[in-house]
Amino acid sequence: MSILARYLVTAAIPYANAPLHLGHLRSTYIPADIYVRYLRLYGHDAIYVCATDEHGTPIAIRAEQEKSSPRKIVDRYHASILQDLLGMGCSFDIFSRTSTSVHRESTQEFFSRLLEKGYIYESQYEQLFCESCNRFLPDRYVEGTCPYCGTKAARGDACDACGRYLKPTDLVDPYCVLCEGRPVVKTSRHWFFKLSVFQKEVRDWVSKNPNLPGNVKNYALNWIDEGLRDWCITRDLSWGVPVPAVDVKDKVIYVWFDAPIGYLSSTKIWASKSDDPEKWRGYWKDENSKIIHFIGKDIIYHHSIFWPAMLMGVGEYCLPFAIVAGEYLTLEGRKMSKSRGWVVGVSDYLEDFEPDSLRYYFIASSPLGKDADFSWDEFARRHNNELADILGNFVHRALVFTHRDFQGKVPDPGEFDQYDQKVLDRISETQCEVAEAIECFSFHSALRTVMDLASIGNKYFNDKSPWITVKEDPQTAKTTIYVANQIVKALSILLEPFLPFTAERIWDTLGLEGSVHDQNWDDAISPLPSGQRINPPTPLFKKLDMEKIEAKKMKLPKLDEEDDIAEVTIEEFAKLDLRVGRILEAKPLPSSDDLIHLTIDLGNGVVRESVSGLLPHYTPEVLRGKSVVVLVNIRPTKILGSMSEVMVLAAVDGKQLTLLIPDRPSEPGTHIK
Ligand code: MSP
Ligand code: ZN
Repeated sequence: MSILARYLVTAAIPYANAPLHLGHLRSTYIPADIYVRYLRLYGHDAIYVCATDEHGTPIAIRAEQEKSSPRKIVDRYHASILQDLLGMGCSFDIFSRTSTSVHRESTQEFFSRLLEKGYIYESQYEQLFCESCNRFLPDRYVEGTCPYCGTKAARGDACDACGRYLKPTDLVDPYCVLCEGRPVVKTSRHWFFKLSVFQKEVRDWVSKNPNLPGNVKNYALNWIDEGLRDWCITRDLSWGVPVPAVDVKDKVIYVWFDAPIGYLSSTKIWASKSDDPEKWRGYWKDENSKIIHFIGKDIIYHHSIFWPAMLMGVGEYCLPFAIVAGEYLTLEGRKMSKSRGWVVGVSDYLEDFEPDSLRYYFIASSPLGKDADFSWDEFARRHNNELADILGNFVHRALVFTHRDFQGKVPDPGEFDQYDQKVLDRISETQCEVAEAIECFSFHSALRTVMDLASIGNKYFNDKSPWITVKEDPQTAKTTIYVANQIVKALSILLEPFLPFTAERIWDTLGLEGSVHDQNWDDAISPLPSGQRINPPTPLFKKLDMEKIEAKKMKLPKLDEEDDIAEVTIEEFAKLDLRVGRILEAKPLPSSDDLIHLTIDLGNGVVRESVSGLLPHYTPEVLRGKSVVVLVNIRPTKILGSMSEVMVLAAVDGKQLTLLIPDRPSEPGTHIK
């Protein structure tokens, strides 16, 4: 990527109806920030655009429930969300809102243009209407039973349990969320976007776009191949962008039509605050501009299908160059749930910890395209063992040595030996590798490469033992400390996209001019001159206060075991080797009143032992000869002196255990899938 280009980086605009939690940061805001910071350092013309998404039924409902107004709600959350994002170091060029007049005009212009071109048509549409509230019930104003999976309290726009998109009239036994009354069906005038006519064009665009990561491409192609249906893009509501037609009242444009236009209107607002109000065009209408959307996996459909189709329909705007979708974050192994309080708010985190520790955790713990889990213990471990012990330790040793033994000045190096040279070469290799990884959105591997450089620094420092050479061979000690300082300087630049606060502290301590954020990526490999005067170093990271970690853990609600545990993938499930086993022998364990020792035939001559708590429920005589379900590859353990190599499965209802028996005769060893 040596040619400099113009980039518009966006992060999905968060709904202004709830505080931000860690999940939002991990999938969307931190990855986008890393990418744009890198682009800026590289010298590209790159801006980071975001806003709050201030329309939609959740906000309107919340206002009604709190007897407040949508305006008050969005004002409150706009401020709190922005504060959290800035606190985490997100370097927006603009963080706007969709309740601005520029946004309203841009949205209405899109609508009118698509209408003129025949991509929007009007039709009578069946809606749910609540007679006691005297209103239509769009989207989340109605709940009911999901027609696909039977889950109760599915919302009018989607079922959280099975993930399907719904329309209110799809719901079985619908009820009004405001009064719980039963709605009736009434027809109303609505507008539809002809998504269906873009089937081929969108498919070509998705399949030929080399910059769409695998997860985005796969999801999108699956949906496209199921056939694209037209979208109803208006709602009977008064909060939102009014439908631009003279004779309609209390109809607004659907929030998912106006939300992505938020990227455009925010860019316009950014430009309007500069000396060139027209410069937004360079990002949206110049074919050389690259627009990159960072989103979470739940909104891939909207960004890879619906939004490109809107842009194709309107014409003249650039299509997204890339769409990067972060998978979901779970919390302590469970799916996050706002209603159960199973979330950690960003502001709650920032009260006690530094933003860089969390940025580090998110990127270091797993690649963006894989699910990740946040656990407080793991967070503390990574902070202490990686940030403090590897990165902090290396930087501190190098700087303290410079300060103490060389009067705070980077010493003159002598001849470099092979080892010195290898380490110096490693700096430039690291700089290249990190750039390559960031450019293909592999932030996880990029950060690991940077951390490896810190580890190399630690090893080099140990191997060279400057505390010995400083007395016996001072010139060698000078060379070592010179080289170590080169690594420190490189780390400052290379870490800037990931850990901007830490990078700046290193930069300051090195006594360098200006801010690390304004440097160039190539400054990572330009030498820190000998004679450079550095400032007295202080440790970069303190070990975390484990009492604070415990306090955070205590703040999470106590959930029952039955509450939904995080999803497993089919690959994870396939790791369980489940088979039919026949109980050959069953003997009570002498020292226990519920444990029983089983000998189980698993076919092909394989016989295994198991200790199970079946005794109060089954007698040994009954168990002998029974075929049961066995988990074969569980880690063996010793229970009261007996080996338990496999586990027999049972249904557990309170204290009652019931064995699972194959419905038809099955041979021992038969796989269960
Ligand atoms: N307002 C829409 C986006 C419109 S973009 C034109 C929205 N808002 S949101 O507040 O619900 O989510 C903001 C971002 O966080 C989205 O990228 C979403 O995918 C992501 N996430 C929401 N919950 C998440 C997790 N539990 N885990 C990871 N990412 C999550 O969607
Ligand atoms: Zn009602």
